[in-house]
Amino acid sequence: MDIFERILANPGPLGQYADQAYGYFMFPKLVGEIAPHMEFQGKMMLNWSLNNYIGLANHPEVRKADAEAAAEWGMAYPMGARMMSGNSDLHEQIDRELAEFVQKEDSVLLNYGYQGVVSLIDAVLDRKDVVVYDEQCHACIIDGLRLHIGKRFVYKHNDMESLEKQLQRATKLSAQTGGGILVITEGVFGMSGVMGNLKGVVELKKKYNFRFLVDDAHGFGTMGSTGAGTGEHQGVQDGIDLYFSTFAKSMASIGAFVAADKKVCTYLRHNLRSQIFAKSLPMPIVVGALKRLELLRKHPELRQQLWDIVEYLQNGLRERGFNLGVTQTPVTPIFLQGGVEEASQITVDLRENHQIFCSIVTYPVIPKGLIMLRVIPTAVHSRDDVDKTLHAFEEVYQKLKNGLYKKEVPQVSEGMI
Ligand SMILES: Cc1ncc(COP(=O)(O)O)c(C=O)c1O
Repeated sequence: MDIFERILANPGPLGQYADQAYGYFMFPKLVGEIAPHMEFQGKMMLNWSLNNYIGLANHPEVRKADAEAAAEWGMAYPMGARMMSGNSDLHEQIDRELAEFVQKEDSVLLNYGYQGVVSLIDAVLDRKDVVVYDEQCHACIIDGLRLHIGKRFVYKHNDMESLEKQLQRATKLSAQTGGGILVITEGVFGMSGVMGNLKGVVELKKKYNFRFLVDDAHGFGTMGSTGAGTGEHQGVQDGIDLYFSTFAKSMASIGAFVAADKKVCTYLRHNLRSQIFAKSLPMPIVVGALKRLELLRKHPELRQQLWDIVEYLQNGLRERGFNLGVTQTPVTPIFLQGGVEEASQITVDLRENHQIFCSIVTYPVIPKGLIMLRVIPTAVHSRDDVDKTLHAFEEVYQKLKNGLYKKEVPQVSEGMI
């Protein structure tokens, strides 16, 4: 069969909705500066869908640093992979500063988070090694594991008993193969807001011999007394052997890094294929990252502002009877009973009648019969934004309970789809 014939006949779980969903439910265009209020299809929306946790995306000092660096360096410099011709003093400076910020000896800049994790897993594993990972790990971890030829065992989400069982199997197997064990989880699970039980994993190091990789994409900058992440928050940063985060969230940019012991980072610099075979990050990204990091360090009040909004929002929702699962972080999921049809009607109602834009998640990402509104508070949201949202969600909740979304056909405005 022709490959194109096959893929066009089976467009995939999301692709099957391409025509109905384009521009509204998928690939929506948010217009204007990154902020709590942005334009969508000609209307201003109160926007709860961006991971701009600390509000750095549009911080005047960040915008100035980005613009000045772009004017000074352009987007090309330095050319080539870092190993060949693409290194600079500032690239080395950001490696050092990131390491210091997350309390590790050294770090290595990565061009992208997703690719970086895939490559990191590939670089540290041998076919003899055994991986044990949380079942809810992000796609970049799952896809990195596809490159692993050796065995992998999955443990039940955050379940330390299940992890221990898998560690026992992994220990037996690695004794036979002569390999090692790598445990992988996330600092903060980006859908549910649940923290990875890093403390529990590190505790198991006393009984089992393994290395520990944490993807802290949502924890970096938001968690811990200095913002160093979920390991710091749980007091186990030292027990994390490979600490990863992206710049795509609190740093409001692009790029990523992995931090570890000095010798491990030296190994990674010489073995991370995503970096050796790719051009290094352009200077404006590096200069911009240095500025963002400086702000994270110098302005802890930004993190405090984030947490004020998080608490105000989450307390307000809980007081109104909403089920937020067990989030312990800024990621705020709101679980409602309903199907995909009701979820799309809620989306339309929120956007068209309340001017609220947030992500809505349904089966197959979460179990059938559940709808999850995913709200991401940031340091630049106001209490007024929260009040409006609480009011809107209450109305939507009542309508859902009264079965109104089952009956109503959403009012589709012109150009909406
Ligand atoms: C947990 C997690 N890991 C990795 C990534 C990928 O990072 P990037 O966007 O830099 O590719 C994301 C999403 O951005 C994420 O949520």
